Formats: sequence, structure tokens, C-alpha cells
Amino acid sequence: MSAKRVVVEVLNGEAVYPPPLWMMRQAGRYLPEYRETRKNAGSFLDLCYNPDRAVEVTLQPIERFGFDASILFSDILVVPHALGRDLRFEEGHGPLLTPITAAGIADLNPETFHVNLAPVYETVRRLREKLPSETTLIGFCGAPWTVATYMIAGRGTPDQAPARLFSYREPEAFSRLLKMLAEQSAAYLIKQIEAGADVVQIFDSWSGVLDEPSFEAFCVRPVAEIVRQVRLAHPTVPIIGFPKGAGFNYASYRQKTGVTALGLDWTVPLSEARGLQREGAVQGNLDPLRLVAGGKALAEGVDGILKALGQGPFVFNLGHGIVPETPIENVWAMVKQVRNG
Ligand code: CP3
Repeated sequence: MSAKRVVVEVLNGEAVYPPPLWMMRQAGRYLPEYRETRKNAGSFLDLCYNPDRAVEVTLQPIERFGFDASILFSDILVVPHALGRDLRFEEGHGPLLTPITAAGIADLNPETFHVNLAPVYETVRRLREKLPSETTLIGFCGAPWTVATYMIAGRGTPDQAPARLFSYREPEAFSRLLKMLAEQSAAYLIKQIEAGADVVQIFDSWSGVLDEPSFEAFCVRPVAEIVRQVRLAHPTVPIIGFPKGAGFNYASYRQKTGVTALGLDWTVPLSEARGLQREGAVQGNLDPLRLVAGGKALAEGVDGILKALGQGPFVFNLGHGIVPETPIENVWAMVKQVRNG
């Protein structure tokens, strides 16, 4: 029997106060111990694919701050990489891939997908053994739309114009790409669960740039398909959907995709968040820059969120990943304020 894991219980609808907490991108460059391991690892991808080092950096924020959940250290772009696309991360440039074409989509080959991702599954297995039994282990993948934006543009862009244009000009190839990504991402999450993940989160970081029909077709439907497949294999594992920037589309996202819990970005008004919380757990949504600023900006941000959402099923988190400039003492201040309720 597994131990009582408060994040799992909250995601399943239990209200716990003070709420449990973790941070998106909690293992990362704001931590000196991460920068040290990262330097010795060679490339960022070497770090993702080396279970010794990936376990080490995943555990660093747990050891330092005692967060209630630990998120596997990897990246959403290991999925296209495992499908045979080239990928590298360059200092100051983020991810770089060769932009995929319609012909390239037809050539994607899932044959060695799980073999290529075996080091990630090994990392998850070791993490579940090493983590404190009360700490929830979160696995993850990128949502098909967000992963596709990087595959098509070959890099990050401010508004995902290349992927939006591609979707209009090459609708059939684009639809095949989303279908393949949904299929493989579901299988990837299932393997993470089988290796020991207690919860999975689907990151749709770019869901805020689409019009209504595109949001339905590219964000809602592929995520609903992933949820369907994961639930068939593992009906009770909570699934967090994080459609960053979805705005009005947050209102129906849980119902349409079937995700258990909603990750909220910092632009979601707390009054709206309370409404969303009536249908299930929510997670979020402190502006990461309040954490950079610290002081009054941080204290007021945390206080507002705790007051608005503390009475229902709620996991405290940031509204997006922690940024490298964040002072560690501000993370401590946030942890203390949340723990004191
Ligand atoms: O949350 C965690 O601690 C787990 C690890 C994790 C990383 N990336 C590590 C990482 C997770 C869950 C991700 C998800 C991810 N990766 C997303 C979705 C969430 C989001 O932030 O919107 C996206 C869009 C990516 C793609 C990606 N990876 C980008 C755009 C970048 C460059 C930006 C940057 O911060 O440099 C990465 C690199 C990356 N992924 C780093 C880390 C710690 C920094 C690279 C380094 O250490 O050199």
C-alpha cells in the first residue's frame, strides 16, 4: 500500500489547509546546486537522459525546501527527440530543432520511442524509491499543440505564428502530427505511471494563442484523447491539465478534456478560480515575478491566493515556472507563508 500523499488527495477533491505546495520548474537554474550538476553533466539533454544526475537534480528542491510534490526532471521536448527529430539546447537560445515539414511528419517513426525514453522511466523508478513516502511524484508531458509549436518553428517564438500558419496551410499533415503526439504522449505517461509516478501533468504552455475552433481542435481534443488513454490503463491516477493562457477557455476545459485538476496561470482572476474550484481541484497561480521581487509584492500575492482558494481543494504553485533570477530567500519566504496558512 502506498503512503498517504496529500497532493494526490487534494487533486482528488479533498480540501486541506494549509494547502500542499510545489513549484513548476522547481529544479533549475535559480539553485546553485542545480547549476553545479548541470555544469558537470555537459549538455542539458545529457542531464535529462542520465538517471544518476536527473535523480540528483529532481531531489535538490525537495531536500532544500521539503515541497509536497516532486516533478520528474526532464523536458517536454524529449518526445519529438524520441521520435527521431534532432534537438539541442543552446545557452541563451532555448531549444533548437530542425523545423518539421509535411513530409517529415509522414516519416515520424515511433518504433524506438520507448527504448529512447528508457532512461526517463529508470529515473522515475529510482525517484519513487528515494523520495520520502509522503512526497507525491509527478510525471509529465507537453500537450500535443505545445510540442508541435516547437517542432514546426524549430525554436520558441513569441506567438507561435509558424505553427498557426502551418495548421491552416497543411491541415491534414498537422492533424496527423497532433494525432501521433497524442498517441505517443499517452503511452509515455502510462510508462511513467508504471515506473512510479503518482500524478501526471500535461503542459499546454501555448494554448493562449489560438482562436476558438483551433483551441477546440488542437488543445482540447488531443488532450481529451490522452486523458482517455491514460484513464483506460490507470483509472485512478490524477491528471493535471495546465492550459497556460487559456483565458475564457479555462471555463470548459476540465469538462471537455476530462482532466482531474486545473493548473491556473497567474492571469486567471481569483474569483474565476473559485468558480473553477467548485468542479474540482485547482493548482496555482502566483505570478513568478512576485517571487523574484519578494517583500510586499510576494506577501500580498500569496495572501490573496490563500484567502481566495484555501477553503477548497487547492495545491499552491506558481502560475508558470520559476525564473532563474529568483532569490532563494524569497522562495523560503513563500514556503513559510504558505505553511503558516
Ligand atoms: O518543473 C520541473 O522542475 C521539471 C522539469 C521541466 C523542465 N522543462 C526543465 C528545464 C519541465 C516540466 C519542463 C517543461 C517544459 N519545457 C515546457 C512546459 C512548461 C513551460 O515552461 O512552459 C516547455 C515549453 C519546455 C521547453 C523548454 N525547455 C524551453 C522553452 C526551455 C528554454 C527556456 C529556459 O528556461 O532556458 C527549456 C529548457 C529547460 N527545461 C531548462 C530546465 C531546467 C533550462 C535549461 C538549462 O538548465 O540549461
